Amino acid sequence: MASPAPLLLLLLTALPPLWPSSLPRLDTAEGKATVAGLILSALERATFFLEERLPEINLDGVVGFRVLEGQLRSVQAEWAQDPLLQSLSLRVGTLAAKLESLLQTSIFYLKLSDPEYLREFQPTLLPGFWKLPRAWTRTNASLVYPTFEPEDSFSEDSSDSCLVELLGTRNDSSQPCGLSDSCRALMTKPGCSAYCLSHQLLFFLWARMKGCTEGLFHHSQHYIDLFCANMMDLNRRAEAIGYAYPTRDIFMENIMFCGMGGFSDFYKLRWLEAILSWQKVQEGCFGKPDVKDEELSKVIQYQQHFLRRVKRREKQFTDGCSTHNTATAVAALGGFLYVLAENPPAHGMPRLSPPSPPSSH
Ligand SMILES: *[C@@H]1O[C@H](CO)[C@@H](O)[C@H](O)[C@H]1NC(C)=O
Ligand SMILES: *[C@@H]1O[C@H](CO)[C@@H](O)[C@H](O)[C@H]1NC(C)=O
Repeated sequence: MASPAPLLLLLLTALPPLWPSSLPRLDTAEGKATVAGLILSALERATFFLEERLPEINLDGVVGFRVLEGQLRSVQAEWAQDPLLQSLSLRVGTLAAKLESLLQTSIFYLKLSDPEYLREFQPTLLPGFWKLPRAWTRTNASLVYPTFEPEDSFSEDSSDSCLVELLGTRNDSSQPCGLSDSCRALMTKPGCSAYCLSHQLLFFLWARMKGCTEGLFHHSQHYIDLFCANMMDLNRRAEAIGYAYPTRDIFMENIMFCGMGGFSDFYKLRWLEAILSWQKVQEGCFGKPDVKDEELSKVIQYQQHFLRRVKRREKQFTDGCSTHNTATAVAALGGFLYVLAENPPAHGMPRLSPPSPPSSH
């Protein structure tokens, strides 16, 4: 991500102009219900995808649906109190119940396919692990790094091993909130972008969810603020290049994680609209776009090679469906639903950022 400028320019010229906004406004009850209905339909289709391919969905894919399940439970509880939202609330409840049963079945398949990885990360699949934000804030642009390091340095293995230390699942004798010197260095290293950055954030989010407060974790909020400010900057850049396919996955992961961190400015209506437009209508999944343009296809392939994706546990189906893309998409969309339910605009709380051009810093 350090200096992909020539590639990005090429992409810009190959892409069609951004489509105009077509989602209704959110300042009326009807507008909100319409948007909520659109999101729910997308989530129902994605859950159908999960159901169809359950034996083949890896843990990283399943986790996104666990996050979604928690979001839906909260939304359902909120809407059940409003007579106007009874039918939406029922739909949400039905979807959450279906997810719960699919998630339980998925454990059975994950035990067969990757028992070691399952043992290490199983806590993150349990109900209630992912705590939703109760208070909202916004990113602070003055925390954005002057430059980003090259992406190459990120190792998914080292990052996984630090997360396992934190969860305390390395073996029977280890305790949660573990932090070695090498993990401290990796997780606080400045200048990270892409997955290096999102995993640094994930580390501190999980620390908070596990209740780790000692030592470095005393400063968790500082790191969460720092990382999400940079993730916001990267998301704006992804938008500026027309959400070229390889950036969509991290774009949605950033919304999923920073939304979970309580940063309401990740919930922009135009970003919601973009994500909804990426769903494959037939499969219900998210993944590689159907590309008609030969030139654009070449550029995407070249850029994918250039970015050297590190998502070891990613699974790409032959029809272009990606389990990781789908997981980040449903958790991001669930976050939009959660924000809609949590913060009625009439209450003057943070709301979905209106579709306006990116504000200057
Ligand atoms: C943003 O961060 C800067 C640098 O840490 C700080 O001085 C400033 O008060 C922050 N602004 C807000 C609104 O929190
Ligand atoms: C637990 O893990 C630590 C660090 O990886 C290792 O030194 C120790 O021998 C392990 N203990 C058991 C019981 O496997």
